[in-house]
Amino acid sequence: MANEIDDLKQRAEKELEAATTPDGVDAWQAKYLSRKGEVKQLLRGIGKISAPEEKKRIGREVNVLNETLEKKLASRREKILGEARARQVAAETVDISLPGTRPSCGRVHPVNRMTREICEIFQNMGFQIFESPHIETDANNFQLLNFPKHHPAREMQDSFFVSEDVVLRTHTSPGQIHAMRECAPEPLRALLPGTCYRNEAITPRSEIQFHQIEGLAVGPDIGLADLKGVLLEFVRQLFGPGRKILLRGSYFPFTEPSVEVDVDCILCDGKGCRLCKDSGWLEILGAGVVHPNVLRNGGYDPEEFSGFAFGLGIERIVMLRYAIDDIRHFFANDLRFLEQFS
Ligand code: FA5
Repeated sequence: MANEIDDLKQRAEKELEAATTPDGVDAWQAKYLSRKGEVKQLLRGIGKISAPEEKKRIGREVNVLNETLEKKLASRREKILGEARARQVAAETVDISLPGTRPSCGRVHPVNRMTREICEIFQNMGFQIFESPHIETDANNFQLLNFPKHHPAREMQDSFFVSEDVVLRTHTSPGQIHAMRECAPEPLRALLPGTCYRNEAITPRSEIQFHQIEGLAVGPDIGLADLKGVLLEFVRQLFGPGRKILLRGSYFPFTEPSVEVDVDCILCDGKGCRLCKDSGWLEILGAGVVHPNVLRNGGYDPEEFSGFAFGLGIERIVMLRYAIDDIRHFFANDLRFLEQFS
């Protein structure tokens, strides 16, 4: 029996040395140390020994063998796992000299970017930003701006009515009433950026939802010449020095006189091209001298105060600046379009 124990020990140790993978070690454990393994079989063989002293001695030896092999198994397993871990770490080593991958990152929408740029120009001229509601009363959107009910001028702006007297604002001009009522009788210079809604056919130049910026200045002796000076300065800051503007007579119920303002074509410098349809001019906004009725509705005495107002479409300005030929790109959420504005 002593020989058998010795022989098993030598075989087991040799085979354990030869096991180089976790699976190999598991197979070795099953062969020698499991319930049906060779060491347990040796133990069972002890029962056949008749001399009690001999039985005890052999029993001790087998137990020592069992303990020895368990210890060797544990250290072998640790060594193999350690090697596997070391191999894994080596494979995962980071090469810090490799160029990094830039995470994709959102950008400011071109309409918001342009809104900020335009607001900054007017803020530097002393205009202050006001906010006004998207959902308006018919009175603020129309009547107080000198569009009486059933007046044909209402046809200029097809409207989304929420109820008979409530409408999604068709322009930022009702903000004039809010700003005036907040400031009267003090002079004011207000800027009102915002979304507008019109029940129109969607075309390359018109959306049902778009953005405007309204400007309003009220004070003693403010007139058309002031409007012209402010707009010329604005155009030169936005489109470049030396730009010219053209004021054409127009009609809005809330201004008198009313004008439409063009800038000389930024693409051909007024010589005539596809962008300006060979006219040399690009329309950028509507404006005028505030109608006395509107001043009165805002809380100012038109005998003492006068003012000018203007309203521009932001998408159309972005379209001019970047020669974009279809307004629908702005709301299509196509990253290929949006990513160009970084
Ligand atoms: C107005 O909305 C006036 N409230 C502007 C104004 C303010 C005049 C103050 C006088 C004094 P108009 O309807 O022309 O005017 O619109 C002004 C600008 O908004 C247009 O020049 C255009 O750039 C833009 N706009 C109008 N309708 C649409 C639309 N459906 N889609 C995109 N932009 C539009």
